[in-house]
Amino acid sequence: MSLPKRVQIVEVGPRDGLQNETAILSVEAKAELIEALARAGLTRIEAGSFVSPTAAPQMATTRDLLQLLGPRPNLRLSVLVPNLRGLCAALAAGAKEVAVFAAATESFSRRNINCSIAESLDRFFKVVAEARRQGVGVRGYVSCALGCPYEGAVAPRRTAAVARALKDMGCGEISLGDTIGVGTPLAARALVETVAEEIGLESLAVHFHDTYGQALANIFACLEVGVAVIDASVGGLGGCPYAPGASGNVATEDVVYMLNGMGVETGVDLDALLEAGVSVARRLGRAPKSAVARASASNEAKRRAIQAFEAQA
Ligand code: HMG
Ligand code: MG
Repeated sequence: MSLPKRVQIVEVGPRDGLQNETAILSVEAKAELIEALARAGLTRIEAGSFVSPTAAPQMATTRDLLQLLGPRPNLRLSVLVPNLRGLCAALAAGAKEVAVFAAATESFSRRNINCSIAESLDRFFKVVAEARRQGVGVRGYVSCALGCPYEGAVAPRRTAAVARALKDMGCGEISLGDTIGVGTPLAARALVETVAEEIGLESLAVHFHDTYGQALANIFACLEVGVAVIDASVGGLGGCPYAPGASGNVATEDVVYMLNGMGVETGVDLDALLEAGVSVARRLGRAPKSAVARASASNEAKRRAIQAFEAQA
């Protein structure tokens, strides 16, 4: 078995996570979260999106957020843009990386961005060309890469065709999104293998939601075939507003714990990451969804109980 020596984590909590939380965080609270994630060693963070504020009101302050954060030479902050208008707004706010998002199915494309896959690719062609002209890197997502809430299972070749189109128009990295978290490890691996035949493995990232508790197993299956970029969301924040029932992305803490245990480097400090997860969950008025956060809290409670017992004895 061979695993990558080092994995890059793309922290998507501030965007993919917060876009689907009912509570809307202030710009200051979002900036604090991003600062905490950066202190934990994350170097790639998706900060927000420039989409219709009706579609994602939680993201309506992304411009103010980027301005508050200011230029960050050591951080790759990216934002999602659905069209040229979003790109222009992102560039004006100082974005140095953007992401476009197509879908593998017509129904999801229509529900998420109100156009067909072909129309979205035409739109993204212009976005990517302009971004690159301005020296800004672009990531491309393929949503519903394994399954769609409206059309069911998705054949890998459908996802591969969209991935190929995004790659051909100039996206430097393609992230395969299991938007509703229905994938299982062998299907995830088969998908990566099929897409890699089209566009190579080097530019592939995986983006698993954990609806059926399969995300870590899926990630492991993809690591085994050489994927080395993993999307994750601190505290398992989020879900997808257009995918009913979908849970948040796999929790970053759980991914880092698994990778640490296998000796795969991430550059992330798990304790600092846990703090970031607890702090944002507190702001949202609930506990973090990560298994590692729950285990750490219960270890801490046990340690306190033992200390109290010893102090009495
Ligand atoms: P539309 O209705 O077809 O387009 O929406 P429109 O041009 O008629 O615009 C509709 C309204 O949005 C108008 O405002 C525009 O001004 C405004 P109104 O006149 O109604 O007040 N608008 C914008 N506002 C701000 N920034 C913009 C912008 N563009 C138009 N850039 C559109 C089409 C794409 C705009 C809309 O459907 C949209 O914003 N969709 C985004 C939905 C979204 O954010 N989804 C979540 C992200 S995808 C995801 O999470 C999956 C992923 O994580 C991968 C995975 O999990 O698999 C990436
Ligand atoms: Mg997602």
